[in-house]
Amino acid sequence: MFTPEGREDPYPALARLRETEPVCFSPTVGSYFLTAFDDCRSVLADPDFLVPDRDWCERRIPDGAGRPSADFFYSSMLATDHAAHDRLRRLVVRELSVRRVAALAAGVEELCAEALDRFAAAADGTAADFHELVAAPLPVAVVGELIGVPPGDRERLRALGDDTCRLLEPVRTPEDWDRADHGVTGLREYFTGLLRERRARPTEDLASALAAQPPDGGGLTERELVDVLVLVFAAGFETTVGMLGQAVHALLAHPEQWELLRRRPELVPAALEESLRWDGPVPMTERIATRATELGGVSVPAGASVITVMAAAHRDPACFTDPDAFRVERTDGRVLSFSAGAHYCVGAALARLEGAALLRQLLERFPGLKPAGSPVRRTGDGLRGFLRLPLAT
Ligand code: HEM
Repeated sequence: MFTPEGREDPYPALARLRETEPVCFSPTVGSYFLTAFDDCRSVLADPDFLVPDRDWCERRIPDGAGRPSADFFYSSMLATDHAAHDRLRRLVVRELSVRRVAALAAGVEELCAEALDRFAAAADGTAADFHELVAAPLPVAVVGELIGVPPGDRERLRALGDDTCRLLEPVRTPEDWDRADHGVTGLREYFTGLLRERRARPTEDLASALAAQPPDGGGLTERELVDVLVLVFAAGFETTVGMLGQAVHALLAHPEQWELLRRRPELVPAALEESLRWDGPVPMTERIATRATELGGVSVPAGASVITVMAAAHRDPACFTDPDAFRVERTDGRVLSFSAGAHYCVGAALARLEGAALLRQLLERFPGLKPAGSPVRRTGDGLRGFLRLPLAT
């Protein structure tokens, strides 16, 4: 998974690992890698496995010390548990309620249509880059709409978000840290201003809802409110970019499945789940065992790092019939793409809404869509997705 060839297609090697050593300790990384679906799901759902928090990371990865991006990440809900986590998460869950997401549906359809207009104009008689024209700008526009980022600011924020997402690399180089510092500092500055602006002139967006929180003891501090927006922005787009590009790529790599979906568009939600399973954007995540335990017959000591490799779990033949086949009619398609347990993705409903809206419009407008050149995958190990995806209509 950590080599260029592995990034292109990690699945054969992951299958061999799952067959030979489904709970595998890597002395180089210092972690247990889990590749079976049931092991991954039970660890993610188990309250005895916590996310790596600030204390743990200061001991294991001291190179983040004093960096603004480490300060942001390790005080965010992705790196806290129990009461501290609940306190940060509660507000966001409430604000990303089913009702608010449903209210975004019409806006999401419109943003998809606008992105596809740009794609149609560029793809007129030639190949156009679906990543640059649709998969990358659309999630920025959608999460921007949710938060309340004006359209003119979104491109600049996309670059800062890209930098911030270097924090998702499992092993961060000094360059990753520098870029993440740049991204977090820029986004913090931007969202501090946006909260100030919404306090003065509230609207219906997430920034206004956060700005309206009373600054009492139970509420979040100003810095925490700003960081919630930074997290929602950064977590809400790079992952979705990966999902959109990979879903379209998977469908076009299987023209008979694209055809089937064209005939039966009611299968779109199932097709999206299948693409998340077959090649999803988040290949793995990490937990720390709080007590000595046993996983798949292997003793795991207290304090051990455990990596749940969702990319492998999703191809586990114990859970999925013919797991390497891409089938939009699959009915055994439950996925761990949005994690499980206490840290289950708060944006899953929005991501699914967006993915389904885009696929439906693509099928309607570009029934003859096809690959038109070699796609280029993003570098790094934290997320899967494309940097270039040339398609023709
Ligand atoms: C296809 C798109 C997406 C994927 C695959 C994805 C995946 C994930 C995963 C795997 C986690 C948990 C990580 C862990 O357990 O260690 C997570 C958490 C999170 N996601 Fe997403 N996500 C997506 C879209 C979004 C969107 C659109 C938003 C916001 C609008 C969002 C906001 C968050 C937040 C705030 C968390 C932290 C939750 C917590 O720690 O309690 N995500 N996401």
